[in-house]
Amino acid sequence: MINLSDQKPFASGSNRHCYRHPGIPGRCLKVIRPENIEARYQRQMPLKKLLGKSRINDNTQEQRAHQQSAIVSLIKRGHESCVWKHLPRFYGETSTSLGSANESELLLDDHGEPAQTLESYLQQHGFDTPIKAASERFCEWLENTGILTRNLLPHNLVVTLRNDQPELFLVDGLGAPGAQNKLAAIPAWRKRYITRRINRFYKRIAWELSDRKRSWEDSQQL
Ligand SMILES: Nc1ncnc2c1ncn2[C@@H]1O[C@H](COP(=O)(O)OP(=O)(O)OP(=O)(O)O)[C@@H](O)[C@H]1O
Ligand SMILES: [Mg+2]
Repeated sequence: MINLSDQKPFASGSNRHCYRHPGIPGRCLKVIRPENIEARYQRQMPLKKLLGKSRINDNTQEQRAHQQSAIVSLIKRGHESCVWKHLPRFYGETSTSLGSANESELLLDDHGEPAQTLESYLQQHGFDTPIKAASERFCEWLENTGILTRNLLPHNLVVTLRNDQPELFLVDGLGAPGAQNKLAAIPAWRKRYITRRINRFYKRIAWELSDRKRSWEDSQQL
């Protein structure tokens, strides 16, 4: 078991703390923030509660998301490197002193520090030409591979250099909810689902760069 008790997370989202792997440089370990699972669980309707806590556990969801048909089929056909063009390599579940962790590639900047999120990049540089091109390459990859994601949020993408140009990597939010995942067996439906995620991604970028007078929820109604 990996001991994380004397480590500080390098970053945290609302659901998980992210630690550098103490034994393997270049890997990270994400552990669930138990208080959040409990709070989300308690907010659910009684009937949904019967389905248990694992469906709201982001680590379990992420493991399932890596088993989605588009990824499995790329690997089967010998195109695994294509999967990791815009996703951190995923190494599955690992046990730690803070509970079960998801182990994955830690994306770094050119100083060896965890890479910056797209959210922070946009605040610093705006939607400049290099990042626009990186976003286009990322969206083309989604369309070409058929890999399903949830809504693409700038704080769930990180920017890292590959062959001297910035590339976007999705570090959180892989996979589609159960019903949508099944419907995606229909190619036209899958295409439509991905197009919607992409359109919403660009809207979200515009919203993040706006004065945000209108809430994100309201601005989507437009
Ligand atoms: N593989 C990675 N490489 C570099 N940084 C990462 C990686 N994974 C996560 N991070 C950083 O850690 C932050 C939190 O990680 P993550 O989004 O997985 O947590 P979360 O709690 O699931 O997020 P959310 O609040 O969106 O549910 C990210 O926003 C990013 O800054
Ligand atoms: Mg996140």
